[in-house]
Amino acid sequence: MIDVLLGLQWGDEGKGKIVDYLAERYDIIARFQGGPNAGHTLYLDGNKVVLHTIPSGVFQQHCLNLIGNGVVIDPVTLQNEISKIKPICPGLLERLFVSQRAHLILPTHRALDAASEAAKGDDKIGSTLKGIGPAYMDKTGRNGLRVGDILSKNFKDKYDKLTQKHLQLLGQYSSVVDWKQWEQPFFEAIEMMRSLQIVNGEYWLDNHVHNGKKVLAEGAQGSMLDIDFGTYPFVTSSNTIAAGVCNGLGVAPSRIGEVYGITKAYCTRVGGGPFPTELSDETGEALRAAGAEFGATTGRPRRCGWIDLVALRYAVMLSGVTKLIITKADVLDNFNPIKAAVSYLADGKETKEFPYDVCDKEIAPVYESFAGWAQPVSSCERYEDLPQVFKDYCRFVENYLHTKIAFISNGTGRNQLLTVS
Ligand code: GDP
Ligand code: IMO
Ligand code: MG
Repeated sequence: MIDVLLGLQWGDEGKGKIVDYLAERYDIIARFQGGPNAGHTLYLDGNKVVLHTIPSGVFQQHCLNLIGNGVVIDPVTLQNEISKIKPICPGLLERLFVSQRAHLILPTHRALDAASEAAKGDDKIGSTLKGIGPAYMDKTGRNGLRVGDILSKNFKDKYDKLTQKHLQLLGQYSSVVDWKQWEQPFFEAIEMMRSLQIVNGEYWLDNHVHNGKKVLAEGAQGSMLDIDFGTYPFVTSSNTIAAGVCNGLGVAPSRIGEVYGITKAYCTRVGGGPFPTELSDETGEALRAAGAEFGATTGRPRRCGWIDLVALRYAVMLSGVTKLIITKADVLDNFNPIKAAVSYLADGKETKEFPYDVCDKEIAPVYESFAGWAQPVSSCERYEDLPQVFKDYCRFVENYLHTKIAFISNGTGRNQLLTVS
């Protein structure tokens, strides 16, 4: 079976930390979508590591790691990541595998991303500008270059052909970044990629599963950034929900086992787009400060607000989440009261459904309030040690979402994770 772990909000729920912890129980960790827009943070003996393309299982020595066909790869980012972690990650290259069907991000994809965002003005998405949207557009437009192509003799011709297409598109924009400077590093990184273990990912996984290996599929971004079900158009360009695992790795739906869904004890979003429970006041700022809410990829301040159970229930439904994980519980230690949105008032009507036109509607969340716990939960080593008011908050969330909480994360460290019995 293949278990899944994914974010239920707008990304940055703590997926990196949790995958690093859970990887102990799995043989293979596989990324199935997204690309260098992701920033997954983990702490190894107090040292911070941020992964963008490499799965977060690499630091568990027994784990194999697959970058699946659904991922878009920027060769330069991958090369930098490998160089950075190689000294602290024994056997990295022996345990890293890349699907030949994964698509490549070209320098001109990044240029197109920047030009398209700049042209949107106030309506810009707030993209990470890593070339994600244009690379996925070429994939669905049937123009893209795949990892397997780098092994063919005419790779440079294919590259030139696609770049010419991009130049025509770039000609429509008033300002274009100097993407030429990125070409040489791109081809150097392609050379490095030729030495990686490039595999037929779907057969590779199937063989391992047949041999009894346990696989965890690692999501990037979050459910509310899903291309189909997120707050469109303020979304990313891939399917971030559990369905994305089947396309992004080539596994059948019947093979999917547990689905771990991660949410922060509150909520954040980075970039533009609707965020019904956003707090644009001192409480929001206090959340940002307490949670160190700055983007792991871009360093941008994250927008902060209360947990949104309406959006969460939607995300749980879309992915069939079987186990919930709540992260950053410790961040709420000094807040009182703590709130959770339980419905929306949209156009004067109360609803518990996430609206299709959330971008155009004025939404007023209806909150349930909880007493704060006013004590540091980071020092708790067992679920039983947590303050009763915190447990009451957890019960409420479980009941609302009809899903059991499996773990509560109460700090950045690998082992700061409480198993809920
Ligand atoms: P990801 O993209 O989902 O992997 O999440 P990010 O790494 O972008 O952001 C999550 C941030 O929260 C990282 O800086 C983590 O180190 C941190 N983090 C994860 N879990 C906890 C937790 O339980 N408590 C605190 N205080 N920080 C956490
Ligand atoms: P992880 O995996 C948070 C957001 C961007 C922007 C929108 C589109 O670390 O949780 P894109 O670069 O995909 O064109 O940006 O999606 N976004 C993320 N926000 N965490 C991420 O990844 C994100 N990846 C993309 O800020 O609003
Ligand atoms: Mg992140």
